[in-house]
Amino acid sequence: MLKGKKIVLGVTGGIAAYKSAELVRELVRSGAEVFVVMTHGAQAFITPLTLQTLSGYKVATDLFSLIEESEIGHISLAERADILVIAPATANVIGKIAGGVADDLLTTVVMATRAPVLLAPAMNVHMWENPICQENILKLRGRGYHFVDPESGELACGYEGKGRLAEIPAIVEEIRAILSPKDFSGEILLVTAGPTEEPIDPVRYLSNRSSGKMGFALARAARLRGARVILVSGPSALKPPCGVKFIPVRTAVEMREAVLENLAQASALIMAAAVSDYRPQRSHAEKMKKSKTELNLPLELNPDILFEAGQRKGKRVLIGFAAETEDLLANARKKLTEKNLDLIVANDVNRPGAGFAVDTNIVKMIDRFGKVEELPLMSKEDLAHRVLDRVLSLRSA
Ligand code: C5P
Repeated sequence: MLKGKKIVLGVTGGIAAYKSAELVRELVRSGAEVFVVMTHGAQAFITPLTLQTLSGYKVATDLFSLIEESEIGHISLAERADILVIAPATANVIGKIAGGVADDLLTTVVMATRAPVLLAPAMNVHMWENPICQENILKLRGRGYHFVDPESGELACGYEGKGRLAEIPAIVEEIRAILSPKDFSGEILLVTAGPTEEPIDPVRYLSNRSSGKMGFALARAARLRGARVILVSGPSALKPPCGVKFIPVRTAVEMREAVLENLAQASALIMAAAVSDYRPQRSHAEKMKKSKTELNLPLELNPDILFEAGQRKGKRVLIGFAAETEDLLANARKKLTEKNLDLIVANDVNRPGAGFAVDTNIVKMIDRFGKVEELPLMSKEDLAHRVLDRVLSLRSA
């Protein structure tokens, strides 16, 4: 998504300036072209040569250099940028921008650009909490400047508190979000992910091999495209994507509750969760003891969440996933009709590269008109975007 994007990265003079090297690497790795502008302060912490080597472009530092002005001057940088990122952004640069000061190359580029500007502040906790700094941030937010807030933790100055530069992946994710087309703005997407766990006793449960990857990818992609996302997930080792409302659950019954509670406000429901069809009839309060005889564990049916959502579908787009090991299309079609869905994403979990716990998937998508779309092996991230494209096309159909 960052392929070919031109990112002007301003680096200002704080100890976190050394982390800009990692940011440049990440952005270049994602296919972006990165043009670095350093303030004089920044050069006391990290050399232009480092960032020049990593970005592959000459680092701009001087507003009044004749050579630089013709090649990488403030107007040329301001116009070339798809986005201007300042990381780390000191209290000083934030104050200068808020006050309309343009007295060096970076602040002049900020003044001259029409591209979105993202600031990643990093400073001492007392500077961060200073009302003047907070007022400046509020003012800039009101003017459409974007911020990725600092994190709490140990600061270089020995203090504990908020002020540490946001993690590099969080900054990159924010850049992606700002640059993504916003074709889901105004939508509230309810997404489920992961397995469910059905307790047998305090230490044992029934579950399946779902990792949550597909549902998390859907949630992330929808958020990047401007949706408000509610992600209801069974137990998963994955970190919830930035900027989504995350509701962790354990059992199918808990998932049902969370889904039905949030369904009314959602414009679409995508059930990527692998909900356990059955649960033990009773969950033992104490750990079950081994005995010399065989054990029969009576199971009872779990509610079918998607079926219930289908009953109260309204104008919502409803999408299900079907993991099959045989008769893929026939079984998926049956579920599509029975559950009153608009689309079912069917995968043959026996195929290498498809299904549970891998980063890729191979699916067939069947829509409510019976049309089958066969997709080749692709990343779950790409598939998430294809599914979201169908949400939009099915709505307008
Ligand atoms: O389990 P089945 O193959 O019927 O699942 C198809 C779809 O139904 C999936 O999207 C799954 O999330 C959903 N489902 C559900 N509640 C269940 C079982 C499955 O919502 N108890």
